[in-house]
Amino acid sequence: MSDSQLILYSITSIIVLLIIFFLIKRRQPKLNLPPGKMGWPFLGETLGYLKPYPATTIGEFMQEHIERYGNIYKSNLFGEPTIVSADAGLNRFILQNEGKLFECSYPRSIGGILGKWSMLVLVGDMHRDMRVISLNFLSHARLRTHLFREVEKHTLLVLNSWKENSSFSAQDEAKRFTFNLMAKHIMSMDPGKLETEQLKKEYVTFMKGVISAPLDFPGTPYRRALKSRSTILKFIEGKMVERVQKMKEGNESFGEEDLLNWVLKHTNLTTEQILDLMLSLLFAGHETSSVAIALAIYFLPGCPRAIQELKEEHIEIARAKKKSGEIELTWDDYKKMEFTQCVINETLRLGNVVRFLHRKAIKDVHFQGYDIPCGWKVLPVIAAVHLDPSLFDEPHHFDPWRWQTNGSRGPSSSCASVTPNNNIFMAFGGGPRLCSGSELAKLEMAVFIHHLILNFQWEISDADQAFAHPYLEFPKGLPIRVQRHSLL
Ligand code: HEM
Ligand SMILES: *[C@@H]1O[C@H](CO)[C@@H](O)[C@H](O)[C@H]1NC(C)=O
Ligand SMILES: *[C@@H]1O[C@H](CO)[C@@H](O)[C@H](O)[C@H]1NC(C)=O
Ligand SMILES: *[C@@H]1O[C@H](CO)[C@@H](O)[C@H](O)[C@H]1NC(C)=O
Ligand SMILES: *[C@@H]1O[C@H](CO)[C@@H](O)[C@H](O)[C@H]1NC(C)=O
Ligand SMILES: *[C@@H]1O[C@H](CO)[C@@H](O)[C@H](O)[C@H]1NC(C)=O
Repeated sequence: MSDSQLILYSITSIIVLLIIFFLIKRRQPKLNLPPGKMGWPFLGETLGYLKPYPATTIGEFMQEHIERYGNIYKSNLFGEPTIVSADAGLNRFILQNEGKLFECSYPRSIGGILGKWSMLVLVGDMHRDMRVISLNFLSHARLRTHLFREVEKHTLLVLNSWKENSSFSAQDEAKRFTFNLMAKHIMSMDPGKLETEQLKKEYVTFMKGVISAPLDFPGTPYRRALKSRSTILKFIEGKMVERVQKMKEGNESFGEEDLLNWVLKHTNLTTEQILDLMLSLLFAGHETSSVAIALAIYFLPGCPRAIQELKEEHIEIARAKKKSGEIELTWDDYKKMEFTQCVINETLRLGNVVRFLHRKAIKDVHFQGYDIPCGWKVLPVIAAVHLDPSLFDEPHHFDPWRWQTNGSRGPSSSCASVTPNNNIFMAFGGGPRLCSGSELAKLEMAVFIHHLILNFQWEISDADQAFAHPYLEFPKGLPIRVQRHSLL
């Protein structure tokens, strides 16, 4: 091949390449991405996004970005190009289209620690199968027949141990309540027993890793948590072997009502799947509802009128029971706790236990003029909607009455936000991944509030405030001082 031929070939191939390049370019119409900036390479704006801020606000980062770009903006978070949504309509659209346009997509570190069979990370058919199991286990019927009694028992166990006029952490107490309850539901472990306390200790280490940076080096919280995970799994597996043995011996009555038995009897899950399921239910059911209870304990003293109205509601229920000679709360009593439900919704709206969810687009999506390219992460920020002043009057104000369809506000208020609806209130997520424990969580809160209000007066003994890390935490553990009273 002569030099001139070589040059000719080179030029031709460059031209061909250029033509191909322009053809590809032309077939990609220009995308109309939401405004926003991508920040530093890889890190992007992640550090700003994760900077802790008071739980009843949306944080400086969100505030600034929404002011500059609007409710939908692009960024680079967790190492990926991301669309952040503080828009009620888009959030709903994302959650409703799970599996069609969007898919659950938690960071890899979460899967590493909760397990690859955890409900939080599974998608598609396998998620559906696991979800059916969790829904069966937490069904309305089981709530009424089995769980209700346990919820009250564990509430009283914790409240009865409170010492008059001494200061203690309300956050720890709420955690003790929900942990005991879940350990009992999941594998019939009794509070106070050595093995339960050991598991609890191991679990604390585990939790610290879930919420830490996923740095897998010796000595990091993440590494310690991975170790705790395997200790906990070994423990659960031990329980499982014991249970299978008992079942073989024909001892059907043993722990009949817990999740472990249910799963062994009614499903074909592998051991690995069962272990991840149990661990993720323990996690999902314990962390969230304990924070929610601590938030209620935190908000209520700031609103004496709400405490007064709660007292009236619960005294009436308790008096009626006394008259009829009943002792334990019943489902009918629970149904009478109407104002309490308003307090619960308001606590979840203002406190925002879960602030945002992790999704990704699995198709090119077009929404209100914006393009969301396939493969991009999408973060529906439910907290930002709950604190949006255009949707809720005075959103930073704890106001349970806003949930009353027929409340003290009267008909004069024309604002659409007087009775918030399911479209904008999404504390439990939505669509095909709606929290399967939402009914249990509300029941736990209501029963706890019932006995708390009837038996105690409390004050926050050392000023504290919940921070979003983005998981919620009271830095001082929410210290309270209680005084026992009897309202009956
Ligand atoms: C106030 C308390 C609670 C809050 C705020 C809460 C919130 C949520 C949210 C927002 C999701 C959706 C996650 C996503 O879409 O990515 C979720 C899922 C879930 N929650 Fe809860 N939760 C609470 C209590 C509970 C309890 C008590 C349990 C059960 C024991 C539970 C079990 C679950 C499960 C199993 C899922 C996964 C559902 C699925 O993927 O299909 N949660 N929760
Ligand atoms: C409660 O404790 C505080 C200080 O710890 C004390 O000043 C107060 O008198 C105590 N009240 C009662 C009723 O014991
Ligand atoms: C079944 O288990 C229970 C609880 O451990 C025990 O009290 C009972 O004796 C066992 N019954 C049989 C037949 O093994
Ligand atoms: C478990 O597997 C057996 C046999 O393969 C089947 O008959 C049964 O229906 C399965 N059960 C469930 C809950 O899938
Ligand atoms: C609380 O919020 C839920 C939506 O998650 C709604 O269905 C319910 O009616 C609300 N409760 C009250 C008392 O407004
Ligand atoms: C509002 O509530 C009051 C009692 O609380 C009741 O008498 C009245 O009929 C209710 N109004 C509506 C429109 O539901």
